[in-house]
Amino acid sequence: MLQGRHLIEPGDFSLEEMDRLFALAERIEEEPGYLRESCRGKLLALLFFEPSTRTRLSFEAAMLRLGGSCLGFADPGSSSSAKGESLADTVRMAASYADAIVMRNPKEGAALVASRYASVPVINAGDGGHHHPTQTLTDLLTIRRLRRSIGNFTIGYCGDLRFGRTVHSLAKALARYPKVRMVFISPPELRTPEYITAGILKKERIEYLETGRLETVIGELDALYMTRVQRERFFNEEDYIRLKDSYILDAPKLKAARDSLIILHPLPRVSEIAPEVDADPRAAYFKQARYGMFIRMALLVSILGAVKLAGD
Ligand code: NCD
Repeated sequence: MLQGRHLIEPGDFSLEEMDRLFALAERIEEEPGYLRESCRGKLLALLFFEPSTRTRLSFEAAMLRLGGSCLGFADPGSSSSAKGESLADTVRMAASYADAIVMRNPKEGAALVASRYASVPVINAGDGGHHHPTQTLTDLLTIRRLRRSIGNFTIGYCGDLRFGRTVHSLAKALARYPKVRMVFISPPELRTPEYITAGILKKERIEYLETGRLETVIGELDALYMTRVQRERFFNEEDYIRLKDSYILDAPKLKAARDSLIILHPLPRVSEIAPEVDADPRAAYFKQARYGMFIRMALLVSILGAVKLAGD
């Protein structure tokens, strides 16, 4: 039962609970009117201390499509945190107005702290370079829709694997599914943190490989998860400029890839996927963004207890 629960990191829900969310999201996608009024009278607080387009708008679209309403801020400069208000106080206050809180914050661990002070469910919409569990639900739903199941495949993650929270969350989540092989493709400076590789993958005996070259592995992949170099998390601009174009996926590189490859990206993209790739049937990133709205609808109705599912 997900009613009243927080979602701070990908391990918070069981595989069965996630499966039920995927099935619900698929039903919502197929039957546009389904659950249309289920959140009427409910309020969702969107506290975005960091820029966001997809995540914030897809939560807002999800809530509005369910008949509910949203309040909040997209720019911390316009909130009382600019006056020095603590996160705990901002969250306590938001919890007294709204039925659930969605929060993005540049500090790792901020969502967990928020959940300790909130009397309503807190959904982590990204805490610094740490986790982004609703992007992971989006990614898993996309894989399930396009490959029919999650598991028995090889996924490559490419780009900024050090600061890219979407990769941390997805790798952690995929480690729970059967026979997933992972290839981490990054420059040495942007390697995946050890708490993911040594801490989770080695411990769970997940087969993985770290490499610097996309060209040499692209032909082995069933899914390729491209990421943006996270400029805002660099300490100096020179390093960012040196590393930002480490990998650019374009048509010549894709010649060596499988016809069945699915190309994913959490977006926003900067230069890591050439626009010519958008017309390639293997490009799945815009579909992925749309699935993000359906899975957030499924998540909100479940957390708010607005729909009772079989097994709940
Ligand atoms: C990602 C994020 O915020 O971590 N974007 C998103 O939520 N769709 C990826 C990114 O910003 O590069």
